[in-house]
Amino acid sequence: MIWNLGSINIDNFYEVPHLPAAGETLAARSFGFGLGGKGANMSVAAARAAARVAHIGAVGPDGRWTRDRLLEYGVDTPHIAEVQTPTGHANIVVDAAGENSIVLFQGANVKLTEAIIGQALTEASPRDYVLMQNETNGQEYCAATAQSLGLRVVYAAAPFDADAIARLLGRIDFLVLNEVEAAQLEAATGKTLDALGVEDVVVTLGAKGCKWVSNTGEKAFDAYPADAVDTTGAGDTFTGYLVAGLDRGMTTENAIDLALKAGALMVTRRGTADVIPDLKEIQDRFGI
Ligand code: RIB
Repeated sequence: MIWNLGSINIDNFYEVPHLPAAGETLAARSFGFGLGGKGANMSVAAARAAARVAHIGAVGPDGRWTRDRLLEYGVDTPHIAEVQTPTGHANIVVDAAGENSIVLFQGANVKLTEAIIGQALTEASPRDYVLMQNETNGQEYCAATAQSLGLRVVYAAAPFDADAIARLLGRIDFLVLNEVEAAQLEAATGKTLDALGVEDVVVTLGAKGCKWVSNTGEKAFDAYPADAVDTTGAGDTFTGYLVAGLDRGMTTENAIDLALKAGALMVTRRGTADVIPDLKEIQDRFGI
C-alpha cells in the first residue's frame, strides 16, 4: 500500500508557439484543463500500475471534482481534506517541441495539518510506502511519523529545493530527482549521491533514461524511444510507476524498467493525470 502526501492541482493547459519571454504577450493555440499536481499525478500513475494508493492532501470547495476524479481513477480519497482555501492550480504552457513552463498557485496544498497526515498514517502498516513531493507542507512531520512506524519513505524532489531535502535526509529511503537537481543537491550538501545516507537514488535523465545509485553500486538504464509531444507529468508518471512496482514486490531493476516504459508512453500524450497510461496500454505498446 502506498500513502501519498501530495499536491492536487487544477491544471490549465495552453499550447503556445514558443515559451513566453519576459514582457511578452502570447496568444495560445488551444486551452484545456484537467486534474494535475505532482502528487495527484503520482497517485493516478500508481493506481494505473495496479498498486493500492491512498492520497493524503487538501482541496478547496472549488476542487471537489478533483477528489471525485481521483476516486474514479482508483485512488483512495478519505484522507483528502476540504479546507476553506482555493484548490491549488497550475498554468502550464507547452511549446511546439513539447517543452513546458509552469506557474503554480499552492492554495489548499499548503493547508495540511499534522492531524490530517497523522490520522491517515494510523491506518498504515509496516513496510507500506510513504511517497512525498515538494508541493505540500507537512513533509517533515510525515517523514518522521512514517519512519517511526517502520514505513519506507520515497521522496520525489520536485519542485527542487535543496533545503527541503536537507531537512529530510536521514528519513528518506528512496530519492528520485533529475540530473540538474542531483547536481544542485551535491553542490548544496558537498556530498556525492552515494554518500547522502539514502539507500537508493534514481536520477532521471529525460530522453537518456535514468541511473540508479545504491549501496551495491550504480546502474544505467536507457530510455525507450518516444515521439514526445508533451513532457508534462512524465516524471510523475515514472515515479508513480516506480513506487507501485516496488510496492508490488518487483525488483528495483524491473520497477525502473516498467517506470521508463510508462514515462515513454506518457510523453506521447498531451495533458497530465487524465492521460496517464495504464498497464494494459503499456503492454500493448511494449509487449510486457
Ligand atoms: O509535473 C507536472 C505537474 O506539475 C502538473 O500537473 C502541475 O500541476 C504541477 O504540479
